[in-house]
Amino acid sequence: MLQHFTHLRTKLLVSMVAVVFLLTTAVLALLQARMRNQIRADLASTLRTQSRVYADMESLRREQAELSASFIANQPSVKALMSTNDRPTVQDGSQWILSASHADLLILQSNNGKLLGLQSRSGEVTDTVVAPLLQSTLGDEDWWFINGRLYDVNLVPILAGAGQEQRMLGRMMLGREMRRETILSSGDFGKSAFAFERDGHVLLSSMPPDVWHEFESTLPRDTPQSSAERVFQVRGERWLASFVELNGDHPVRLYTLQSFDQATAFLRALNRSLAMLGVVAVLVAALIVFLISRQITRPIEQLVVGARRLQKGEFDFQIPIRGHDEVADLGRAFKEMRDSLKKSRESMLRAARLEAVGRLAGGVAHDFNNLVMIIKGYSDMLLDGVPAPLRPQLEEIKKAGDRASALTRQLLAFSRKQVLEPQILDPNQIVRNMIKMLRVLIGEDIELKTDLSDQIGRVQVDPGQLEQVVMNLVVNARDAMPNGGRLLVKTQAAHLDEAYAASNPDARAGDYVLIAVTDNGIGMDKETLAHVFEPFFTTKEQGKGTGLGLATVYGIVEQSKGHIAVTSEVGVGTTFQVYLPAVSAAASVPQLSKSAAALKGTGTILLVEDEPALRLLTAASLRAFGYTVMEAENGADALVVADTHAGKIDVVIADIIMPQVGGRELVSRLVKKRPGFAVIFISGYTQAGAFDQAQLGAEAVLLQKPFTAETLAGKIQEVLNTKASAAAR
Ligand SMILES: Nc1ncnc2c1ncn2[C@@H]1O[C@H](COP(=O)(O)OP(=O)(O)OP(=O)(O)O)[C@@H](O)[C@H]1O
Ligand SMILES: [Mg+2]
Repeated sequence: MLQHFTHLRTKLLVSMVAVVFLLTTAVLALLQARMRNQIRADLASTLRTQSRVYADMESLRREQAELSASFIANQPSVKALMSTNDRPTVQDGSQWILSASHADLLILQSNNGKLLGLQSRSGEVTDTVVAPLLQSTLGDEDWWFINGRLYDVNLVPILAGAGQEQRMLGRMMLGREMRRETILSSGDFGKSAFAFERDGHVLLSSMPPDVWHEFESTLPRDTPQSSAERVFQVRGERWLASFVELNGDHPVRLYTLQSFDQATAFLRALNRSLAMLGVVAVLVAALIVFLISRQITRPIEQLVVGARRLQKGEFDFQIPIRGHDEVADLGRAFKEMRDSLKKSRESMLRAARLEAVGRLAGGVAHDFNNLVMIIKGYSDMLLDGVPAPLRPQLEEIKKAGDRASALTRQLLAFSRKQVLEPQILDPNQIVRNMIKMLRVLIGEDIELKTDLSDQIGRVQVDPGQLEQVVMNLVVNARDAMPNGGRLLVKTQAAHLDEAYAASNPDARAGDYVLIAVTDNGIGMDKETLAHVFEPFFTTKEQGKGTGLGLATVYGIVEQSKGHIAVTSEVGVGTTFQVYLPAVSAAASVPQLSKSAAALKGTGTILLVEDEPALRLLTAASLRAFGYTVMEAENGADALVVADTHAGKIDVVIADIIMPQVGGRELVSRLVKKRPGFAVIFISGYTQAGAFDQAQLGAEAVLLQKPFTAETLAGKIQEVLNTKASAAAR
């Protein structure tokens, strides 16, 4: 039923009021029942006592009546009268007895049963009525009911002579009429009513005669114990009654009655006051519940408002928390949820923004890359042959090319589109190797400290890239401490849990190695913090910073499946935390790079590149290293070139992404025709999965643009050596 109420307060109120109501009613009902029982018991005992008292009084009266009757019967005049045994004589001579005895009925009967005298005060009693009664009355007392009058009757013998000579002359009967008024005025019954009853008929009662009939109809048919009280329903009113048996040859029962309803009438008034009390209790309870529930529902209502605002994307609102009860706990939990939601939303937005910018930067960098390679390559070639006066200009072109190349690399790093060469290594080793260089970089005003934990695992990253990460962070820290300060590089094992991952969408839960760079420099405000990882975001004056440092760091860390976090406070300092996934494998020894002199070689190379200028440049430099180069401008063209070439092909260098037949398809088709060549894929930009080693084949080597002629030559040597050693086995 409570579900129908939408408000918690109403539910509480309704249930509380219901409980109080039920309790009050139950208490009242119980009280009532007890009082009724008590009253009934009291009443029953009163009734029993009254009827018994009356019965006792009655037997006393009878004794007296008998004495006076015996006295009269012993009068010689009476005996003489009886001796006549003549009806008229006796009738006439007995008139005085009635008035002398104060009786209402006198009967004189001869020894052989003949009626000699009959006197009655009412004058209604006749011989015919009396005869059967006399016949059936053998004892010395009885109850007679004649013409609606009840008589208490005493019978005494009239004896003549004395001793042995004594002989019975007849019987004298004296009857007292039972009158309502006389009984009532005796005061024996107090407030009770009485009723004489015989065989289910009321003979005389203090109740109004029209009630008698109803009383008669409820009289019990059985013969109950006289001590037991009985309940009668008369005219809708309940009466409690107790009775005594009054002896005689025609006995009667005397009922003493009192209205139970009247006796309990005062309870109704009491009920009313108690009900009033109950109502007051319910109202007070309702008020208390209202006040208490308000304390609970108010904060909940406020939370609901808060939740609605959250839905609309508003995060800055007050959540009032008072006290330490469950409601306050709920408020606190809600606040924590709001804060973590806000954080996760912010970092999600940032990640999405960086993703979009990254895609844009990656696209630009791809096309830019080819152009940069051409500029650099040709300026390299020209530098060998131009006359001295023109050299400085050409040097500048080359330098610009170098700068552009560096910029492209950074952009590619940010957009996570550069080719990494991950190795399993100890990050502490990388940091230690850099310390000397970093000290020089930051200058004397800044104190550099390291705190490298031995308990960290290994990480799988490109060592050059990791160096770049550390360096960018250290340089930024230096720039944030123009007047000197303290710089701490720390490594430590770390674990990111699910809760952290939930509020940082670009982080995954797991075990990490943490590299933290902390400075006590100028710090960052909220606005700066929100944009630090965006490319070209810088607060430094023009020419001082490009705003690509942290973008690069971000790209490298993300591409290495790591996570970067930053905390900063204006005027206090900044900490960048780089989390790299911990791997459980031994660190590999970094490979030494080949000396430039040893890069020359021989062999036939099929070069497939769709950008003509780049193809020409690459071919020229390879020929300069001593190789025979066949060029093709796309995959289809390459198949034709290979078909027309009778000799062997040692290395195929192919761009991965080309119109129609791409690098990978070309290689797989060529392998079927003429196996036994090594493959180097080149790519200016790597789409997700495009440089997955598994897809390129285990043997394939990938080279990322922009690359120098030396790098390419080194790679060619590498693949030729691998091929040779494979053939030897
Ligand atoms: N440790 C630091 N303390 C205070 N602010 C910093 C810190 N590191 C980065 N920043 C802020 O972040 C901005 C972006 O840094 P980022 O390294 O991407 O670019 P930059 O240093 O300005 O230029 P670049 O690194 O390309 O030369 C900085 O301009 C600076 O405002
Ligand atoms: Mg920087």
